[in-house]
Amino acid sequence: MIKTPLWLAQLATGAKSFRNNPVIGSPWLNDKGLHIARLRSAESMANSKRRRLTHLVDSEDVESFARDGYVVRRNALPADVFARLRRQVEDHEFQAQEMLQGNAVTRFIPITRAMMDTHAELGAFVRGRMFQGLLRYVAAANADPISFVHTVFGEPHRGPRDPQTLFHSDTFHATAKAWFFLSDVAEDGGPLTYVPGSHRMTPARLDWERQQSLTAHGHANKHHAHGSFRISDDEIRELGYPAPARIAVPANTLVVADTHGFHARAVSEKPTVRLSLYGSLRRNPFVPWTGLDPFSLPGLRDRQAEIHDAINNWKARRGPTGQPPVGLVKPLDPPRRWQI
Ligand SMILES: [Fe+2]
Repeated sequence: MIKTPLWLAQLATGAKSFRNNPVIGSPWLNDKGLHIARLRSAESMANSKRRRLTHLVDSEDVESFARDGYVVRRNALPADVFARLRRQVEDHEFQAQEMLQGNAVTRFIPITRAMMDTHAELGAFVRGRMFQGLLRYVAAANADPISFVHTVFGEPHRGPRDPQTLFHSDTFHATAKAWFFLSDVAEDGGPLTYVPGSHRMTPARLDWERQQSLTAHGHANKHHAHGSFRISDDEIRELGYPAPARIAVPANTLVVADTHGFHARAVSEKPTVRLSLYGSLRRNPFVPWTGLDPFSLPGLRDRQAEIHDAINNWKARRGPTGQPPVGLVKPLDPPRRWQI
């Protein structure tokens, strides 16, 4: 019980695992309303912080986000600027890591400060108002997101179902993910699907959340047990949400979603390769301020992906990891991890 103070302290953070933290996972406390209290207070804090961040986005974005839980910006860049950015990404070799999940390999190339300084259009986009503003608004945190060049290779015949293809909520509070697509995402090419409005709590949803919180600690699906609740298509309907939207979009589209809402990667029957600039921003949902972000300090700004990369590489040197470095590759080179 020596860890009890730590488990209690984690209640005031984004800690989400029902399995690792017996306080968060306690059926008794959750029956008394612990999980629901964390959900509701995180939601009201996110709402109040977003009201202070509306200057970062356009008013249409505020509206579509409030309604759907995501924002889609087509033709995000003028065609010539987009063409140059795409060449900068596709034609150069970068240090990458690859993660194998079911029948999909995801390649991550950290977008470093040096890359942004060398490749003008890439740097301007990642540092620019549209990408930064939407991520910060959706995450309800005025902080520096982490960003990667992201290639997803899906090969349905190669292995078990990719776990990302089950509908789920990443965590109990607002958290933002962005994809700026450099290639088209076809309707049958495994697009992101999102249940519109599922970033909002309703009485039916809160009931469902409460039910999950009583049993999640022992759930067979490890993601669910760690607080990324999985939900079936039938349950989504029963909660009164509309049918999931398939976000199939052409290249040069930016999609930013609150992945607290239910989302999944649609199952693809054919091999797919998808290239995007990916950003992610998640902060402690219970701090009342919007800024004070250590990664916005001059020495650390634009450096999160490098730091993350260094930690991953260090771990990989000590033993096998889920996301080992694969050396220098161009983003569209075939994945190295199929060969393992
Ligand atoms: Fe997710």
